[in-house]
Amino acid sequence: MKNYIKIDEWNIIEEGFDPTLNKISESIFSIGNGRFGQRANFEESYSGNTLQGNYIAGIYYPDKTRVGWWKNGYPEYFAKVLNSANWIAILVEIEGEQLDLNTCKISNFKRILHMKEGYLERSFVAEFKNGKQIKVNTARFCSIADSEIGAIRYSITPLNFSGIITITSLIDGDVKNKDSNYDEKFWDEVYQEIQNEEAFLTLRTKKTAFDVCTGISTSIFNEEKPLSVKSEAISKEKWVGNRIQQEVAEKVEYTLYKYAAIVSSENYKKPELVDACKKTLKRATEKGFEKLLEEQEQAWKKKWEESDILIEGDAAAQQGIRFNIFQLNQTYTGEDARLNIGPKGFTGEKYGGSTYWDTEAYCVPFYLATAEQKVSKNLLIYRYRHLQKAIENAEKLGFEKGAALYPMVTINGEECHNEWEITFEEIHRNGAIAYAIFNYIRYTGDQDYLIDYGLEVLIGIARFWSQRVNWSEERKQFVILGVTGPNEYENNVNNNWYTNLMATWCLSYTMEGLAYVAEQSPTKYQTLIQKTNFDQEAETARWKEIIDNMYFPGDDRLGIFLQQDGYLDKEQTLVKDLNRKHYPIHQNWSWDRILRSCFIKQADVLQGLYFFEDDYDIETLRRNFDFYEARTIHESSLSPCVHSILAAKLGDEERAYDFYLRTSRLDLDDYNNDTQDGLHITSMAGTWMSVVEGFAGMRVRNNQLYFNPILPEKWSSYSFTIGFRGSKLNIRIQESLIKISNHSGKDLVVVIHNQEYSIAGKTNVEVSSLKDYQK
Ligand code: BGC
Repeated sequence: MKNYIKIDEWNIIEEGFDPTLNKISESIFSIGNGRFGQRANFEESYSGNTLQGNYIAGIYYPDKTRVGWWKNGYPEYFAKVLNSANWIAILVEIEGEQLDLNTCKISNFKRILHMKEGYLERSFVAEFKNGKQIKVNTARFCSIADSEIGAIRYSITPLNFSGIITITSLIDGDVKNKDSNYDEKFWDEVYQEIQNEEAFLTLRTKKTAFDVCTGISTSIFNEEKPLSVKSEAISKEKWVGNRIQQEVAEKVEYTLYKYAAIVSSENYKKPELVDACKKTLKRATEKGFEKLLEEQEQAWKKKWEESDILIEGDAAAQQGIRFNIFQLNQTYTGEDARLNIGPKGFTGEKYGGSTYWDTEAYCVPFYLATAEQKVSKNLLIYRYRHLQKAIENAEKLGFEKGAALYPMVTINGEECHNEWEITFEEIHRNGAIAYAIFNYIRYTGDQDYLIDYGLEVLIGIARFWSQRVNWSEERKQFVILGVTGPNEYENNVNNNWYTNLMATWCLSYTMEGLAYVAEQSPTKYQTLIQKTNFDQEAETARWKEIIDNMYFPGDDRLGIFLQQDGYLDKEQTLVKDLNRKHYPIHQNWSWDRILRSCFIKQADVLQGLYFFEDDYDIETLRRNFDFYEARTIHESSLSPCVHSILAAKLGDEERAYDFYLRTSRLDLDDYNNDTQDGLHITSMAGTWMSVVEGFAGMRVRNNQLYFNPILPEKWSSYSFTIGFRGSKLNIRIQESLIKISNHSGKDLVVVIHNQEYSIAGKTNVEVSSLKDYQK
């Protein structure tokens, strides 16, 4: 755990340059705009420890699978989000020596991520070996107002000399993925052009043949006045730019503006790509840096109005939640149903592909409440479009008749994961995809989604479960053998309670869906039945039999559900008794030792109780929570938020708060010692859930919003905004007051502590004293 980020409510601040922390900071200070993004690499060359990373959503390379022992059914490749052309590079040279923060003497270093306005700033003083000193100040952003544009302002002030500075502004396309399986480079050059102060480079991905054209334009100003410098065109393969020799005077500031346009063949026809890039670049240069930044600030203002959480009285918690919300909004904007949310977003290579069950289980609730409906709908449509691939994926594993198994990780619908215990066994992911359909409809009331898209997906998923279970003659019940539950520290277990629960729930929900669509839209129902070759009677009869006869492991003596058959045979050590020097166990223990231990990586039984809490009484929730929490080591970032929400539900404010802090500052404090690989983007949505569903106890039942708030002791208040079925609500919770303001024109009824309140449009309701209710 590290503690070097300064606490500030709106900014992420690092003061002083420590090269050993650089890769962590590169992750933390990442910027993006839903279409592309990058780690906080330096513009100058840097010979120290760094992970260079620029990523473009949806552009991937199928890296041939590399495993020690091939197993039938493994995917041929892992689709990787690619490290793409570096457009930020600005190389600064004085008398033959490069500005390099690893070799120059650095002082006054400061890096600030301005979350409110959406840009990254950095300043420092560098002393070269020859004693010459310059002050540098940079600002850059990826525009969310115009998502094909990036911009940099780079100012240099010579502090103790006048002379010549050589500046090279370039696009470096000769980049690699660190995680490349065969040490290959994934891009080929297609086109390059350098014209005065502009340069263009089109690269094509090997195998997938995506074209990406990047254009840059560079200009220099001397205290607001443009300098008419002659730049020299420089190029080599996959590398284009402009070199400028600038005569500089002591103590005068010189500012370089660099604009970038990034367009891809995903959105333009290949022959038109360079023109599109030129047009975009023109748009950027005509507006100029300040105007683009103003647009950026406006766009972020709107995002914050929709999604901010305000915490009073606890700056560390405030910074944590804003950081999470900021990164989520940088990663996915929901404009394009072909895109999704990678666990690392645009902040690192780890996890390669872009879509895990994380999206459905964790991210959908965040976007449902904080963005327009089309944003979460697009996340669902993404899976709808991949249904055929999910059916093919299941066929590869021997399933038939339209059974669909969605991949554990994917970009284009095809499975990429290649560890057998996950690829073949972590099938609970199918349940999360069905759950997201239910969750989306529950929240939005958009039943048409079920008719037009959802039911078809549900049928495929239900068919999978009905073939994946088997009848146990021994138990006279259905069982699901050989699975990995959410807790990946157990593999190949029988009857993972969570998986069995999700399977039966999917079957029931699909049956409900069939009945609904048959009644509401008989024609569309008939079309779907034909399209899917659905044998209504036989298939639903089998599903019903499974629902009625599924086996669920449990222990009556302890009054708990069992994570899987035989879980209690394990030596029952508690996490509190494990010496901290073993943390994280996945870095310190052999896999064998992990598998034999009872330690749980992430919410598993508790994930099921979180999804379906209304089906269980509070004592059942409490017994299971107490039992499993004591054994959970939270080595997945997805874990603490679920525990936080359940602890809040159980009135355990203290633990709810501890888990909350852990999830919200996971990356800022490098809690799991892995922030350098990239941020835990998908779990950030879980942080948001810990506040809204945890502390505020928000639920949707019977088309209504319910709140059951508690106030963490350290906070004097917290408030958040949500959109719900056309209404915009702000919910503020103080010790003596719960205030819900309805900013929309639409009247609404909400339930606070089990009592209904009508809130007419543009009015608010105030409910006094939390404490009274807590008694
Ligand atoms: C977790 C999975 C998750 C994946 C990507 C793993 O460590 O165990 O549940 O889907 O990370 O975030």
